[in-house]
Amino acid sequence: MAYTFAMIKPDAVKAGHTGSIIKMIEDNGFTIARMEKRTIDKKTAEKFYAVHAARPFFGELVDFITSGPVVVMALAKDDAVFAWRTLMGATNPKDAAEGTVRKLYGTSIGTNAAHGSDSAENAQYELSIFFPDLKN
Ligand code: RTP
Ligand code: MG
Repeated sequence: MAYTFAMIKPDAVKAGHTGSIIKMIEDNGFTIARMEKRTIDKKTAEKFYAVHAARPFFGELVDFITSGPVVVMALAKDDAVFAWRTLMGATNPKDAAEGTVRKLYGTSIGTNAAHGSDSAENAQYELSIFFPDLKN
């Protein structure tokens, strides 16, 4: 069983969608191996988003992800990375398929309710930041 890293972003936590998103995760057969509600500090956010450091919106990304509490999770399922990306939907909620987390709860490309690792390699990196004790 593979793990992926998932996050309920500040917009969705603030809007009160934490429970609904956790319910979707469980209904779709993921095992929540770890879960924590926390506020991310700037240094951790910069490390987490290091792959986006050269992008013009890097500063906005860091400001947003540190703007309020998030819920971070390690999710287990067969092909967990792909399965969680599919359940989240496209980056821009406008393009996301019906029934996905971002279609239901995202409000813009920036405030898009959830994060999911985009590869097994990045899942390892992201999990090591938030759940360093997780053995995979
Ligand atoms: P995530 O990392 O949050 O799961 O999202 P993703 O893979 O679907 O998208 P990615 O390309 O990794 O971008 C990371 C986050 O940056 C924001 N974004 N803003 N203003 C823009 O044009 C723009 N493009 C991307 C999104 O919030 C995206 O989730
Ligand atoms: Mg990404």
